[in-house]
Amino acid sequence: MNVGLIGCGNMARALARGWGRPVLCADPVAERAQQLAEETGGEALPSNAEVARRAALVVLCHKPAQLESVAAEVAPHARAVASILAATPLQRLREAYPDTPVYRFIPSLPVEVRQGAVVQAADGSQDSKVDAHVHELFAELGTLVVLDDALVDVAMGLMSCGPAYVALVAEAQVDAGVRHGIPAAQGAALVAQTLAGTAELLRRRDYDTLALRREVSSPGGLTARGVDALERGGLRAAFSDALDAVLRPS
Ligand SMILES: NC(=O)c1ccc[n+]([C@@H]2O[C@H](COP(=O)([O-])OP(=O)(O)OC[C@H]3O[C@@H](n4cnc5c(N)ncnc54)[C@H](OP(=O)(O)O)[C@@H]3O)[C@@H](O)[C@H]2O)c1
Repeated sequence: MNVGLIGCGNMARALARGWGRPVLCADPVAERAQQLAEETGGEALPSNAEVARRAALVVLCHKPAQLESVAAEVAPHARAVASILAATPLQRLREAYPDTPVYRFIPSLPVEVRQGAVVQAADGSQDSKVDAHVHELFAELGTLVVLDDALVDVAMGLMSCGPAYVALVAEAQVDAGVRHGIPAAQGAALVAQTLAGTAELLRRRDYDTLALRREVSSPGGLTARGVDALERGGLRAAFSDALDAVLRPS
């Protein structure tokens, strides 16, 4: 499927790298589009309209505030549109693109290495052959979960914000190790691999987080003490507050 990216920022770059195929693209900063085109073996085009004319699927990678202005250029030409815009429900997308099939996905940065969490929004009115192709395209990027459109922003607060949270957790662990004498580089290697390996174990144990914790925490042991300290430090409450903060209207 011939993909055209509208906007060539962080997430467009991650998607294009994850797909690993040539893309058509446009951006207000021409060099940014040119760079992404060169990296993927694709083509930077002079306008959003030209991308829409040439692509089988247009992927909206600009900011949510630009929905209407971009739609004015893209809608007359697009055959199908997939949006990754935060806080922009399917209904708003359909109003902006009334005559085009529209899809809503929320990716996360690890799509760049095809290890992303991706959410596809559903509200019961999707159909047709194009849907399967679009779904498969985004499913290439990692684990794709279909959720009701009303829950997509909640999901975004977990998985799109997640890489920043996980990076912060990793940094905190590394700093704790540094305080006790572990060099930062070695500490970071240990922590990053622990995160990656634990994610794989959770998948193999049907995402049963408690079962995994029990395997590591022998009664009266060191891990149980560490987990208790994290709980007392408010780890759960901090993540709960983080999600509230993300979902609070700005
Ligand atoms: N980053 C994430 O983890 C993440 C996760 C899920 C969803 N999203 C969504 O993905 C979208 C992009 O986010 P991002 O982090 O990649 O932002 P970004 O790095 O700022 O990229 C947005 C790009 O769109 C360009 N742009 C602005 N106006 C445009 C127009 N009229 N036509 C075409 N391109 C235009 C911007 O150019 P200028 O900088 O010159 O304005 C910029 O290069 C957002 O809607 C965001 O909600 C992001």
